[in-house]
Amino acid sequence: MSDVRVPLVRAEGVSKVYGTGALRTPVLHSVSLEVRAGELTLLMGPSGSGKTTLISIVAGLQRASEGRVELCGEDLSRMSESQVARVRRARLGFVFQTYNLFPALTALDNVAHVLRMKGASPREADATAREALTRVGLGDRAGHRPGELSGGQKQRVAIARALAGRPSLVIGDEVTAALDSHTGIAVMELLRAHVGPATGVLLVTHDHRLEAFADRVVEIEDGRVVGDRAGSFRATREEAGAA
Ligand SMILES: Nc1ncnc2c1ncn2[C@@H]1O[C@H](COP(=O)(O)OP(=O)(O)OP(=O)(O)O)[C@@H](O)[C@H]1O
Ligand SMILES: [Mg+2]
Repeated sequence: MSDVRVPLVRAEGVSKVYGTGALRTPVLHSVSLEVRAGELTLLMGPSGSGKTTLISIVAGLQRASEGRVELCGEDLSRMSESQVARVRRARLGFVFQTYNLFPALTALDNVAHVLRMKGASPREADATAREALTRVGLGDRAGHRPGELSGGQKQRVAIARALAGRPSLVIGDEVTAALDSHTGIAVMELLRAHVGPATGVLLVTHDHRLEAFADRVVEIEDGRVVGDRAGSFRATREEAGAA
């Protein structure tokens, strides 16, 4: 079990420069970010401000140029690629802006695959995957391949895949962008339900309506954190409790 006192993410002084010479592009400038268990954190900012870059560094999908990143207390900056992959597999569910499903696999196998990688038996993996697809409203699409699904359905398969392994942290990049508002709310409720004493969610979004589901909103502009404030989820609950 995770130690709830250790933040799920602790990034300190993270800088990122893409390219060299004439193509040198500094994208992140000494960014620090903490993501805590028990919270749904939003990362908001204009297009090109470095959101996808930051979460991919936090997830160990690429390296920072400078700085230090801990995921569930483990210092990724000091690990080999295979050690990083192990931490990622054990701790993280990641939903990409572009879904990243395996095109040759059915929706069911896309989800079951990660569960098998985590050590589930084929039968266990299939049952859990089916349940996860049902929770995102795709129980009847389990046998379809990504090419036979709409953008929003692919997005929901990716969300089912991220949630199915019950990771400590789910990170999502614009997970509601391809969804209509009804489906978007259902997906946000599922992500919200993932938040527990030892688990949390970090979501990149442009959509201010998602603040209603968030405990915290971190704002980034031109590769710098410019704001860190409370979301409206707690306030809403407390108001509801007081009423
Ligand atoms: N692999 C790369 N090589 C060079 N530059 C890159 C690379 N990836 C991203 N960039 C640049 O880094 C900057 C930040 O990109 P990033 O994708 O992190 O932005 P973002 O905040 O996620 O934007 P959006 O909201 O449009 O998804 C952009 O200026 C982009 O052009
Ligand atoms: Mg992006």
